[in-house]
Amino acid sequence: MANSPQFIIDGLKATVEGKEILKGLSLSIKGGEVHAIMGPNGTGKSTLASTLMGHPKYEVTEGSVSLNGEDVLEMATDERARAGLFLAMQYPSEITGVTNADFLRSAINARRGEGNEISLIKFIRQMESKMKELEMNPEFMHRYLNEGFSGGEKKRNEILQMMNLDPSIVILDEIDSGLDIDALRIVATGVNAMRSEDRGFLIITHYQRLLNYIKPDFVHVMMQGRIVKSGGPELAERLENEGYDWVKEELGIVDETVGKDETEFKVPMNTTAPKY
Ligand SMILES: Nc1ncnc2c1ncn2[C@@H]1O[C@H](COP(=O)(O)OP(=O)(O)O)[C@@H](O)[C@H]1O
Ligand SMILES: [Mg+2]
Repeated sequence: MANSPQFIIDGLKATVEGKEILKGLSLSIKGGEVHAIMGPNGTGKSTLASTLMGHPKYEVTEGSVSLNGEDVLEMATDERARAGLFLAMQYPSEITGVTNADFLRSAINARRGEGNEISLIKFIRQMESKMKELEMNPEFMHRYLNEGFSGGEKKRNEILQMMNLDPSIVILDEIDSGLDIDALRIVATGVNAMRSEDRGFLIITHYQRLLNYIKPDFVHVMMQGRIVKSGGPELAERLENEGYDWVKEELGIVDETVGKDETEFKVPMNTTAPKY
């Protein structure tokens, strides 16, 4: 498979504001595979996503990340996007003054490279057909990026970007949060339509619900800034039925979160309290 991407995260450690949040995380994703990372809040999932995209707040202190043998950590964020990495953020930013269409066209052209820009006609046709698939109102093309969009509209817009950019590794950070069941189904249909041998997915979620619609090949549990357990889809089902406490008990984890000051927890956390 000439086009099948290989994304390898090895022993990744990262700090934010001097606190170590990622504590040695390893994961390999190949084209055609869908990996889900599940975990309670505060375990470092979004930090992983931001670190992989090169967010300047997150400093890598150890480990490596490569895409098709190339060192991702050496690349600036835009170079990572050009290399084929895509992140749908948990909290997409609003950008006043830049329309959705302007933004997407620039992003597509940046990915395609100089001399290979998409024609206006082709761009509009592509946008219209993808927006129809996502049941988005065409007027969203001309609205400022995410400005005044509802939570669900922002998430659909992230998926619209993904569909237009043709990435080789897709990271979706809690794409299901804030979505009602209809929007969830639409988003999942969009994602499933993009599944192929030349694309790999990393789906971050704390609910199993999304995984009823997007069937993962591998499921990983994240706690304390690392992957503590991996399995197949049956692992997600067990988490749905039994929550995360059995994983913590099995591994002797009292507090699954990461990055909090020790002094905040003079009293042990109540680990049996429902999290959601
Ligand atoms: N931008 C940031 N500034 C300061 N602390 C952060 C930042 N991002 C993450 N953290 C720290 O990392 C911990 C894990 O957060 P996060 O990665 O968002 O977890 P999750 O996505 O699993 O809920 C937080 O509790 C916080 O201490
Ligand atoms: Mg998060």
